Amino acid sequence: DTVRVVDEGESLPFTVSDCADRPGYDRILLVRPTHFDVTYEINPYMGGDVNRERAIEQWRTLRDAYDRYADVAVLDPDDSWRRLDTGGGETTATAEPARPAAHPDLVFAANLGVPTADGDGFVLASMATEERQGEPAYLETWATDAGYEIFDAPAGTFEGAGDALWHPGNRLLWGGYGVRTDRAVYDDLADRLDVPVLVLELTDDRYYHLDVCLTPLDETTALIQPEAFTDDGLARIEAVFETVLEIPVEESREGMAGNAHCVDGEHVLLPAGNSETEAILRDAGYEPVPVETGEFEKAGGSVFCLSLELGTLD
Ligand code: ARG
Repeated sequence: DTVRVVDEGESLPFTVSDCADRPGYDRILLVRPTHFDVTYEINPYMGGDVNRERAIEQWRTLRDAYDRYADVAVLDPDDSWRRLDTGGGETTATAEPARPAAHPDLVFAANLGVPTADGDGFVLASMATEERQGEPAYLETWATDAGYEIFDAPAGTFEGAGDALWHPGNRLLWGGYGVRTDRAVYDDLADRLDVPVLVLELTDDRYYHLDVCLTPLDETTALIQPEAFTDDGLARIEAVFETVLEIPVEESREGMAGNAHCVDGEHVLLPAGNSETEAILRDAGYEPVPVETGEFEKAGGSVFCLSLELGTLD
């Protein structure tokens, strides 16, 4: 009998080393911030006027930072949109596209889907909020063009790699649920991705996605915000990772420090301004790479949310 979804309170029926190896992904998809703005509030951080020029500047700096440690791919929303509109046909230089619907949060690539274990495809997201529902179609178009296999969204709400995080190096998925994503979608994902899922309940709106409070750094180490988890959830994280680094509460609440990203097992991109978290990472042997993301923090997102890991196709 294969193990599927394991709840926080249940005893762990396997160890991480029982889970087969999984290749690391060394490609990162970013979405050009063409539509980015804050025009509604669907998480407690949202608000304030976006300085568009500064946002574009910050996005370019983030792209350059990722580019140093990974192979970066860029989804251009307007190009994808033309393809959606023409049913996926060739875009013509002369056809003037009608104005695409604005998707102010589309820049948060992590929420569009989750990569398969081998990285050759995606399971699409189905957004919890009305405001973001049109977004996964952009990933579908881009990824189909790029040659990735696309799987339909599970039944229920599922916000992609914002809530479903791969354990580095293993065929094992962590699944956040309770705010945006439904617990039930992980039964389906476990079957379709053919991996066990360790689910973690999120109960606090400030930690509305798993990727704002859990950053797996490598197979044995995680950076977390303890106040985001239930006692059982915390115990599960501590049982699975040998080393658990804790973010000071203020740096999570005010600096989005939990939305960090370790692409290569060594360098950790994180929102600038979190000096204590940087020191914690450095002491543990990692190299913090602070990146200014203030404009995107006005929408409640930062470094990790702005990216989506991909496998490399051969
Ligand atoms: N404004 C976006 C939302 O509330 C931010 C998404 C951040 N994404 C993430 N993976 N944490 O949906």
